[in-house]
Order: sequence, then C-alpha cells, then structure tokens
Amino acid sequence: MATTPEKTPRFSPADITVVFCLGGPGSGKGTQSANLVRDYGFTHLSAGDLLRAEQVREGSQYGDLIKTYIREGKIVPMEITVALLSNAMAEALTSKAPSAVKPRFLIDGFPRKLDQAVFFEDTVCPSQMTLFLDCPEEVMEARLLKRGETSGRDDDNADSIRKRFRVFVETSMPVVQAFEKQDKVVSVTATGSVDEVYARIREGFQAKGVNPL
Ligand code: ADP
Ligand code: C5P
Ligand code: MG
Repeated sequence: MATTPEKTPRFSPADITVVFCLGGPGSGKGTQSANLVRDYGFTHLSAGDLLRAEQVREGSQYGDLIKTYIREGKIVPMEITVALLSNAMAEALTSKAPSAVKPRFLIDGFPRKLDQAVFFEDTVCPSQMTLFLDCPEEVMEARLLKRGETSGRDDDNADSIRKRFRVFVETSMPVVQAFEKQDKVVSVTATGSVDEVYARIREGFQAKGVNPL
C-alpha cells in the first residue's frame, strides 16, 4: 500500500540551532541581533533584508510584488520568504569553516504569520526558541520616524508604519502566542537604552541554556 512520505525538514536541530527574533516594527530586532552575532556567534538572517535584496535583484520575478507588499506592510507569500531563508542558511553552512560549536542561526522578523511558522518548521528546521521584543507602539513609532530620516526605506513613513502595526498585532502576535504555549519564548521589554535591552536578553537566554561562545 502506498504511504504518504513524512515531511523531512532540510536541516536537523541535531546539526543546527535556530532562534527566531520577533517584535513589532522598530522594536530593535536588527540592533539587538548585531549584539547577539558578536557574543553568541549567530549567523543573522533578516527576512526583511532578504526580501529587499530579492526586490532589487536583476532577473527576479518577484521584484514588483515584494515592493508592493513591503510598502503596504503586508506579509509576502511564505513560499518566497522561506525559500530565501532556506537558501541563505544552506549557503552560510557551506561557506562556514567547520567548528566544534553547532552553527547557530538568528532569524530576524520571521515567522510573521502562523502559516510561515508551520511551513518553516516542517520543511526547513524546527526552532529551539523565539526572542520576543515587547515594545509599546509610541516608542516604536518614534524610533521608526527617526530611522526614516536616513534609512531610505519605502515603509518608514507614517502611513506604512500604521499599517505595519496593525499587521503585527493581528497576524504576527498569534505566532508569539503559539510559541509561548510551547514554552519556547524569551520575552523581553524593549524600552530603555540598547544596552539595557541587551542585558535583559542575555539574562533570558541564560535561563533557556543558550550562552555566549
Ligand atoms: P527593527 O529591526 O525591529 O525594525 P531596528 O533595530 O532597526 O528595529 O531599530 C529601529 C530604530 O530604533 C533604529 O534606528 C535603531 O537605531 C533604533 N533603536 C533600536 N533600539 C533602540 C533603543 N533601545 N533605544 C533607542 N533607539 C533604538
Ligand atoms: O522586518 P522588516 O521590518 O525589515 O520587514 C519589512 C517588511 O518585509 C514587512 O513589513 C513585510 O512587508 C515584509 N516581510 C514579510 N515577511 C517576513 C518579514 C518581512 O512579508 N517574514
Ligand atoms: Mg529590522
């Protein structure tokens, strides 16, 4: 009798560690990721950065679609984002010198929607945990408007920011809640200085047994 083959993820948690980083737009994901790369040896992959690179890549069939989704703050169809992430992980693993330490990936701004979380964990790799940066909208808005003075980003304007906040609350928070039910979230208050937030992150990681290299 024919059986349905089990879905096997491309990478095993026995070989790599995957940590997701979530938080509203402007909560400090990119900023804190840089600290975590420096001290914990993570390879940092930002879903937003990968999408922006794909948007301008010559020959990409998704350029216009990604541009429209990003400006509207909408979630790009998951097949595109997951393929970009999976390929970037494979590339990082082949270009990395062998090491005694299991490779660690910090995936920033992903999964932004429940279907992405399920699809990624089924086909790419189950995550070990999720860092959630918890930040009030007024703080995030002030940071984004300031970032918008120099970022050149199409979506760092008041209209796009409002839409992004809405999508975050309605679509991305359920992902955080789903991981919380599995006791896989380190939740950190993301107000205060960069150093203050980072100190809280380090404490939370230690409590989950993830330590600096
Ligand atoms: P995200 O990746 O979550 O959208 P960023 O890391 O890009 O957020 O941070 C948004 C903006 O806020 C950036 O201009 C960054 O320099 C600034 N920023 C980040 N963390 C803090 C903080 N703790 N205090 C003040 N400004 C911050
Ligand atoms: O994380 P970042 O703020 O760079 O994301 C910018 C935009 O990229 C999001 O507002 C969304 O339009 C798109 N994005 C997405 N799916 C993700 C991450 C980002 O569609 N997982
Ligand atoms: Mg970012």
